[in-house]
Amino acid sequence: MERRTFLTLSSVTALYVLSGCGGSTGTMNDTTPGGENPGGGGTPAAGTLPVPTLLKPTDRNGTQHYDLNIIESTHTFFEGTDTQTYAVDSSYLGPTLLLRNGDKVSINYTNMLNEKISMHGHGMHLPAKMDGTAHQEFLPGYSWSAEYTVKQKACTNWYHPHTLHKTAEQVYKGIAGLIIIEDSESDRLDLPKRYGEDDIPLVLQDRKFNADGQIVYTPSRQEIMRGYTGDTFIANGAIEPTFEAEAKEIRFRILNGSNSTVYELGFSDGRTFRQIATDNAFLESPVRMNRLVLSPAERAEIVVDFTGELNRALTLHEFNYGKTFVKINVSKNPASSTVLPAQLTALDTLGTAVNTRSFSLGGRMGNFTINGRSMDINVINETVSLGQTEEWTVTNTMNIDHNFHIHATHFRLVKRNGRTNIAANEQGYKDTVYIPAGENVTFRVKMTDYTDAAIPYMYHCHFLEHEDNGMMGQFTVV
Ligand code: C2O
Ligand code: CU
Ligand code: CU
Repeated sequence: MERRTFLTLSSVTALYVLSGCGGSTGTMNDTTPGGENPGGGGTPAAGTLPVPTLLKPTDRNGTQHYDLNIIESTHTFFEGTDTQTYAVDSSYLGPTLLLRNGDKVSINYTNMLNEKISMHGHGMHLPAKMDGTAHQEFLPGYSWSAEYTVKQKACTNWYHPHTLHKTAEQVYKGIAGLIIIEDSESDRLDLPKRYGEDDIPLVLQDRKFNADGQIVYTPSRQEIMRGYTGDTFIANGAIEPTFEAEAKEIRFRILNGSNSTVYELGFSDGRTFRQIATDNAFLESPVRMNRLVLSPAERAEIVVDFTGELNRALTLHEFNYGKTFVKINVSKNPASSTVLPAQLTALDTLGTAVNTRSFSLGGRMGNFTINGRSMDINVINETVSLGQTEEWTVTNTMNIDHNFHIHATHFRLVKRNGRTNIAANEQGYKDTVYIPAGENVTFRVKMTDYTDAAIPYMYHCHFLEHEDNGMMGQFTVV
């Protein structure tokens, strides 16, 4: 931990405004009026879909540096209303980091809040001491750097707080951003790659606002059990924004960035799209579908084809709650053309398992457990051997939904509820898996490259109210 000169909030904000934050379809501060559906706090302010800044690194002696300030800010969700937020060099959420496989990176976070924080690279394959969990918390006025060599396939990951018992609230107020990893394989594929034009990041969330348009995070015990779901659905921090699309294949990198809401996504006209990537890699080949279920923290990249559809209007819709996330107007002539390849990558099956473990997700009265124990920062629950393939079975014993996330690596699903017929779009590298009430999943997993007998990684339910209230455990790799 390194003491930093404490910049004032206004100086960071000013700096940020000067350096800009926009893709060409709008910025995180873009507040053009024009929304129609009143939310909890008034008339939505969103016009065009904001696109987080794409943050390319600065090379210093062969290491790629990224500097991020975690700040208190205000954001315009509703016309004429300043909503108090937390953010990363922005008014809400943070920039998208662009990383390349093989690069040495240093991601330096500075805590300008009035509370401690930790910053986790979700989906990143890295040493435990660079994981950014509650073991690497840093105080107000301090910085912390995640330094490692990127060693994984092209995918869409994300960063978010992982502060003990405070993750849910800190994410809810706005701290999260995407990490895009590219590699030589993604370079070669004929995919939409123009960030903000035909390659569109979508951080999907829901929020509760009070009558003054302020974010409210006060879950009742019932809401801790069921998960804290808001009635206002937002995409990249905007309520029902409009995306002006080129009449061509468009790639959406979708993150379920909610605290505890499972989204069932599709287009208002029921059209077919193709999923091309799961959490940690491309799928071997694109999977045709018209509905996509994502539980909290899961990512999916999809390609939807608007070729020849100039003037078409449709929406990206959420079907579990009946909400519009994004209005889409196909209004622009294509500036390039792409043809989605039939083969995208080859994936490792992880071999035969030599060990099994089981995890039972349970709890009551707002207290959650894994195998009967609540998260204890001083307890290492599991010790895993490096390079050994294991099969983990996770059982949701409750009548509410959960999911399960492992740090530092990816897994391959082998069974859902004892059956091996895994859906085609789940047959890829995953780090988070949805486990509906009463169900179970089995996956194959292997820890590679990094050991640390003292500092653990974590596994947990990624419904953040559950994670913060005990449904998390720790493992070391030796
Ligand atoms: Cu998305 Cu333990 O984290
Ligand atoms: Cu994680
Ligand atoms: Cu849960």
